[in-house]
Amino acid sequence: MKKKIALITGVTGQDGAYLANLLLNKGYKVYGTYRRSSSLNLWRLEELGILESVELLSLELLEKSNIERVIKLIKPDEFYNLAAQSFVSLSFENPIYTAQADALGVLKILESIRMIDKKIKFYQASSSEMFGEGDLKKLNENSLFHPRSPYAISKVFGHHITVNYREAYGIFACSGILFNHESPLRGIEFVTRKITSTLAEIRAGRKKVLELGNIYAKRDWGYAGDFVEGIWKMIQNDKPKDYVLATGEEHSVKEFATLAAKLIGFNLVWKGKKFNEYAIDKDTKKIIIKKNMGYYRPSDVSLLKGDPTNAINNLNWKPKIKFKDLVKIMVESDKKKSLKGKILQ
Ligand code: NAP
Ligand code: GDD
Repeated sequence: MKKKIALITGVTGQDGAYLANLLLNKGYKVYGTYRRSSSLNLWRLEELGILESVELLSLELLEKSNIERVIKLIKPDEFYNLAAQSFVSLSFENPIYTAQADALGVLKILESIRMIDKKIKFYQASSSEMFGEGDLKKLNENSLFHPRSPYAISKVFGHHITVNYREAYGIFACSGILFNHESPLRGIEFVTRKITSTLAEIRAGRKKVLELGNIYAKRDWGYAGDFVEGIWKMIQNDKPKDYVLATGEEHSVKEFATLAAKLIGFNLVWKGKKFNEYAIDKDTKKIIIKKNMGYYRPSDVSLLKGDPTNAINNLNWKPKIKFKDLVKIMVESDKKKSLKGKILQ
């Protein structure tokens, strides 16, 4: 039987690498795109041992001709759009670029699919950030959007245009509204990996202090390996439909940092209040974590917690890794990396 052909934009990112691994294990021919302008960022594919198995093609989301070239060349059965400027903080500094990549980039792909081959199944990486601030209950597919950053607003456009191309042109297009998911392959700019990598470096004596912003922000953190399974299941569904993927649990940044520090071997005690809050190691009396107002965002989202009931009931999907195990997996990986040398990624 002919192998199914999958195209993953953003294969050099966290989810791209895990999804490529999953699809290779399922017998797909996997093509992944990278940005020629960036310094090649293949460490995740290397860590998973799949660099040789994924066919790499250059693609810049802002260039519609790049998208058309790749679709015409490989004729994919399934198109997973994971590429994006995905760092919320950076979207405040580069709002126009973020909108061009994360909003118009999606439209460019959908237009290309519509013009070249409407039978290609399309997945769009939507985000829980689209819900933003407001609803303190568990968020599901029907909850209102109140996006709080240029990133989230761009993702709302990407989400709605995906729904529109499904309704208007009958394209099998679906959108996964994914809550935060992390792993040892997470970029070090995101708070979970920043915490585990910096604490490991402090333990190894190469860094002194971990500086954080809003430690009272709460997120619903799952494991990326579990979430890419849900992404694939959405595309295998009988009908295209959008789903929330989440664990249904909330934890604060402070909780994550305290647990990670304990697992790394620090005995933390928190002191001070509000902007002067810090944590010392009881044994050495040294400051290990302190606040840095520079990491606060112009507008943040204080709590995100999802309700994955629809995905559980209709996709037979379930997050397997729990919060404590997630922190442990990330700490163990960064401890190992820091023992081998400086953590760079
Ligand atoms: P990531 O690690 O930041 O990966 C993003 C990928 O997009 C990288 O491969 C990056 O390439 C590529 N990219 C960025 N700008 C591009 C452009 N202009 N043209 C082509 N490629 C570009 O993100 P992730 O955590 O894997 O997330 C995957 C997707 O899911 C993103 O769309 C993100 O917004 C969304 N999402 C993530 C989460 C989460 O918690 N991880 C939750 C909800 C939604 P380089 O390697 O060259 O930078
Ligand atoms: N990055 C970062 N660095 N965040 C910090 C820090 C810090 O030093 N200190 C506190 N935070 C807080 C942020 O203010 C935010 O409230 C929370 O930690 C999580 O920040 P990130 O890890 O950067 O993730 P995010 O929730 O903004 O965005 C991620 O999840 C979204 C899904 O909800 C990204 O992966 C997005 O691409 C994704 O869509």
